[in-house]
Amino acid sequence: MTTTPVIEIRNLSKIYGDTSTNQVYALNNMTFMMQQGEFIGIMGASGSGKTTLLNVISTLDTPSEGTISLTGTDITTMNANELSDFRAQRLGFIFQEFNLLEHLTIYENIALPLSLQDVPADEIKSKVKQVMEKLNITALAEHYPATVSGGQRQRTAAARAIVHKPALLLGDEPTGSLDLKNAVSLLETMKRLNEADRISILMVTHDAFSASYCSRILFIQDGELVKELHRTSSRELFYKQILDVLGDYGSAAAAAGAANEAGQRHDSERH
Ligand SMILES: Nc1ncnc2c1ncn2[C@@H]1O[C@H](COP(=O)(O)OP(=O)(O)O)[C@@H](O)[C@H]1O
Ligand SMILES: [Mg+2]
Repeated sequence: MTTTPVIEIRNLSKIYGDTSTNQVYALNNMTFMMQQGEFIGIMGASGSGKTTLLNVISTLDTPSEGTISLTGTDITTMNANELSDFRAQRLGFIFQEFNLLEHLTIYENIALPLSLQDVPADEIKSKVKQVMEKLNITALAEHYPATVSGGQRQRTAAARAIVHKPALLLGDEPTGSLDLKNAVSLLETMKRLNEADRISILMVTHDAFSASYCSRILFIQDGELVKELHRTSSRELFYKQILDVLGDYGSAAAAAGAANEAGQRHDSERH
């Protein structure tokens, strides 16, 4: 039996700039598939194309060349209305900043994607209740985001991302603004959603520790896939293997990225 891949990307390119002299290939002829139930990490130095890749998969941006099929549907031929319906019904997002709405309760924040889709009220109630229990935040239903802990906010964001049972959960550096304890808690939650509920997850990260929770890592450099790594044994060993690949492929680029990020931090400290 064959199942339809969650993601099927063929010869995907994204070119920025309109004249031949200023063209940047943010994505350059990329081809890969993601099967249902995978937990894939996208790694690469700063500027390698990670966010661009996530944006075209999440239908927020359009590719210049190539095709993207999500659960068997070619999204590259859809119009704006079809895309927004597809996004609302089939995709879930976890952002670095959790983007909770401060004037809505925890319950209302989680219910939002369903309310926007005109799901009947009793159905919303049972779905939100179910996902709150799963993420252990039932007691917080009537609280406002500002009154709960960082870990609880982030579990609320995860609940909101999966309440409509998306075919694919997407995250751009979801652990990027968390301390280690909360990062581990979010990664454990994602792992559980992936393993117990078979939710397919694609996560961009530049952090080897976060990536070690994935089942497969795709390494990109200058918009091209340069290497992939499958997890075959423990997370600890996978973590070491990821560090080795980053050393082999990314030392120059990673050093440049780190220097760049340090420079930006330095700049922002001065301002
Ligand atoms: N809107 C844009 N206009 C022009 N160039 C862009 C734009 N967005 C991204 N790029 C360029 O595309 C490349 C990939 O960027 P991005 O996907 O943000 O990388 P990453 O997320 O890996 O840091 C970089 O060279 C970046 O400067
Ligand atoms: Mg990025």
